[in-house]
Amino acid sequence: MVPRARRVDGFAKSRGIRINKRLVGKRVNRVTRRRKLTPSAAEDQMTETLKIEFAALAALPVQTRTSPDRAGGVAGHARTLVIFMGKDFAFGAATHRLIGARGEALIKKAAAAVKFKGKALTALDLVSPTGLAAERLVVVGTGGDGDGEDGKGQIKPVSPPHRDLAGLGGFVMGKLGHAATATVAFDLPRPAKDPVRAASEFVLGMRLRDYRFDPYKTKKNEDGETEGRGDIVLAVDEPAAVSREAKGGEAVAAGVLTARSLVNEPANILHPEEFANRAAALKKLGVEVIVLAEAAMRKLGMGALLAVGQGSVHGSRTVIMRWRGAKSAKDGAKTKAKPIAFVGKGVCFDTGGISIKPAAGMEDMKGDMAGAACVVGLMQALASRKANVDVLGAIGLVENMPGPQAQRPGDIVKSMSGQTIEVINTDAEGRLVLADLLWYVQDKFKPKFIVDLATLTGAILVALGQEHAGLFTNDDELGERLIAAGKATGEKLWRLPLGAAYDKMIDSKFADMKNTGGRHAGSITAAQFLQRFVNGTPWAHLDIAGTGMGSPASEINQSWGSGFGVRLLERLIADHYEG
Ligand code: BES
Ligand code: MN
Ligand code: ZN
Repeated sequence: MVPRARRVDGFAKSRGIRINKRLVGKRVNRVTRRRKLTPSAAEDQMTETLKIEFAALAALPVQTRTSPDRAGGVAGHARTLVIFMGKDFAFGAATHRLIGARGEALIKKAAAAVKFKGKALTALDLVSPTGLAAERLVVVGTGGDGDGEDGKGQIKPVSPPHRDLAGLGGFVMGKLGHAATATVAFDLPRPAKDPVRAASEFVLGMRLRDYRFDPYKTKKNEDGETEGRGDIVLAVDEPAAVSREAKGGEAVAAGVLTARSLVNEPANILHPEEFANRAAALKKLGVEVIVLAEAAMRKLGMGALLAVGQGSVHGSRTVIMRWRGAKSAKDGAKTKAKPIAFVGKGVCFDTGGISIKPAAGMEDMKGDMAGAACVVGLMQALASRKANVDVLGAIGLVENMPGPQAQRPGDIVKSMSGQTIEVINTDAEGRLVLADLLWYVQDKFKPKFIVDLATLTGAILVALGQEHAGLFTNDDELGERLIAAGKATGEKLWRLPLGAAYDKMIDSKFADMKNTGGRHAGSITAAQFLQRFVNGTPWAHLDIAGTGMGSPASEINQSWGSGFGVRLLERLIADHYEG
């Protein structure tokens, strides 16, 4: 589920005309009326969520048939059957039973014809397999997927290769196609150490792969793609246990998809006010949400954040979200412990301001709120699975526009911390937003630690490409935990240095600091700037300019907005800060 605040923006999937009672009898102009007819992208998402059910492997009917009757049992009618195969035609015991000697012979013959060897992330696709009940049989290779099959004779790696079950789920979903109807016999030739968790990861991968963002496409189905939602039966050894475990995974998947959709939304729809409304929809899940409008922020002295938004017709917003899920071990009462905090850059569109960006590729700057999107998706995931932790999310929402009201290069602004900033380049705006947010969060909530996420610098793309997000931290333990969570989820981080010599580069002639440090070490001087607003609190900054948007297609993501950070931070919390 994607948070949905008002039924104002977004376009329709259902074509029904909805009459807003509050507007009946009042004068309604055409524009308002039109917009009221258009359910949000969020609604679209909900009706299209992949349906996944669990069944017992042992209860799957044997697939070998002599009669043309293809119906029956969980495998049902007209379904695709997915099975797994390692190298040398290695099948699991349940798969053996399912397809029989006849099925194996069939696979061997077909495999020889196309040289299918059962390598990981390859598949053999058989339509109307003779003698089998399924309409289509997909044999998915698992050889050498980190299960040790390829380990012979090689130099032992420092850590065993990570078995990427989410990736496998994504691969299977990719083979099946969007909105597929299929039964997956989740019986790996070499069983996973924790089969319940493995199945849950597999399901997560399927959900992430099945996501698409198409609320603005009025002509569907032109490329022959199936519409509607898929219907998957995952057959496992312990369906009840997997079903329980998969609930958590479902919460995480939904959080990732929310983040992706927020990043994918265009900036004419998702301006700061609308973004705040979408975040406020988390209230339904029990998240406390407070929205600060400009007057409140002015009172707090957030001069840096407000300066960024002052060129826009859209008001700036700060949204504070709190999930109080921590229970004390003894009596189950909610504790008053310090929260852990996540802060997100939410520049809904970054033109650069008066220091305007070149036209080519500027459309991508609708994604300059990927940090804030991640924080919302994370809060959703944690609340949905009722995580046993106290978490604070804070996002700064602004639009960076040029215009008569916009800030100028050379302007000096006063941050909430009291420190003054000379604005050399109005395109270095994210750090101005984060400066006030970081200060506010520390001052008001005294968190155990803070992780901020921001599409902060183009320089991080130069340094790390789209493989790793940049990690900067004043706390080695927090840094190591983040890096480990990155390896576990595939949302990888690479640590870069901080230091006094870099800090000097942002000293200003006229103010306490300037907002750019020159051509060298652009991502580091940006992080140094942020650190001037961190007051001893353990803190980590993730520069996600390369990983949050414009993502290369992968087994688990085909979307422009990746939702980067949700799985990473959810894992960090699950591994270290819950219970
Ligand atoms: N939002 C951009 C950074 C960015 C670049 C994000 C590419 C995603 C893809 C940020 O606000 C910005 O403009 N940074 C400037 C800083 C410079 C003016 C010191 C940059 O990276 O060029
Ligand atoms: Mn910028
Ligand atoms: Zn920006």
